[in-house]
Amino acid sequence: MAGDGTAGFLPGFKNFATQAIHTGQEPEQWTSMAVVPPISLSTTFKQYAPGEHAGYDYSRSGNPTRNCLEKAAAALDGGKYCLAYASGLAATVNIAHLLKAGDEIICTSDVYGGTNRYFRRIAAQVGLKISFVDCAKLECLEAAITSDTKLVWIETPTNPTLTVIDIQGCADIVHRRGDILLAVDNTFMSAYFQRPLALGADICMCSATKYMNGHTDVIMGLVSVNRDDLHERLRFLQNSLGAVPSPFDCFLCNRGLKTLHLRMKQHFSNGMAVAQFLESDPRVEKVVFPGLPSHPQHELMKRQCSGCPGMITFYIKGNLEHAKIFLKSLKLFVLAESLGGYESLAEHPAIMTHASVPVEDRELLGISDTLIRLSIGLEDEDDIIEDLLQALQAAHPDLEVRN
Ligand SMILES: Cc1ncc(COP(=O)(O)O)c(C=O)c1O
Repeated sequence: MAGDGTAGFLPGFKNFATQAIHTGQEPEQWTSMAVVPPISLSTTFKQYAPGEHAGYDYSRSGNPTRNCLEKAAAALDGGKYCLAYASGLAATVNIAHLLKAGDEIICTSDVYGGTNRYFRRIAAQVGLKISFVDCAKLECLEAAITSDTKLVWIETPTNPTLTVIDIQGCADIVHRRGDILLAVDNTFMSAYFQRPLALGADICMCSATKYMNGHTDVIMGLVSVNRDDLHERLRFLQNSLGAVPSPFDCFLCNRGLKTLHLRMKQHFSNGMAVAQFLESDPRVEKVVFPGLPSHPQHELMKRQCSGCPGMITFYIKGNLEHAKIFLKSLKLFVLAESLGGYESLAEHPAIMTHASVPVEDRELLGISDTLIRLSIGLEDEDDIIEDLLQALQAAHPDLEVRN
């Protein structure tokens, strides 16, 4: 079977969970007929004659275990092709390499801190023009496009302020204006809740480190596309830049995909329960969760997504000291960066994930000292809420709350 990364849809079975479990996993591709794809560690592959081989020649160019993962992920993203990378950021770098010096990237203003740092401090140093624009306001995106614009980069919902951006609206604007690519960072929603390619995006990228793998044990990036020309250029870059994931990581992520649909449903259900609890607590200033009717883009979220992940941002009442006491008092939640795993995590974006974003930008975005980001895991809902309750009590012992 050729290692071309195409989705290779299972004939007749197009539903998400079935695709996650079976696409690209056909036992017939292995001489042993293994039902679980083996970890193919070989870096090189025997050729029948020079240039004639069974689909693989060298593991950086293509690997059987990576091919299984790429096929399954392509199917889940509703894409024709998927490419896997050694990290989400490596995926971003590969996409940026589609451009040349003098081209412009418009990036939505509230993105993952590492994406912001890469565009601002690295891509800009090698001749790409970078503009940060609030793409949640479609008129701002429209006004910002110039004849140099070649890539528009959005992340929705944004991190950490969870603003929802209209993917279809952005795609319409971008494609009306010529040969511009729209790339969507789909890390927060995962393929289960949001399908950017179906909404008009050219490129669907994600840090598979998060929900797609879901077990907090792999760093990986995935990029899905439908266009043959884009796939060809990205495949060339994947091999030429060389930031490919190991076969073992591909095995783990491929395995993680098998339970994505189950995990995401539970993240949504736990997330909704926590968001409702926090919204009713007087020690909490404001809760941001796109699944709540109080979220400003709740209707848009319902239109373009089929659910919400367990990402919740909230502002605790008080100041930095209250936020720190809250975070240090958590017992079940782990104080750590990252998100999307089976375990609940809490973090302080201004000090942790978004420290590399300039202070003035953080202030504009609302990433204040009292903002706390939660990644709600798959533990029992009551235990999660109990932990949050005792930590809020520790941060505000003076504020009596009757439950
Ligand atoms: C939304 C988002 N995009 C991209 C990345 C980068 O991915 P990775 O850490 O896998 O390089 C992250 C990492 O936290 C992220 O949260």
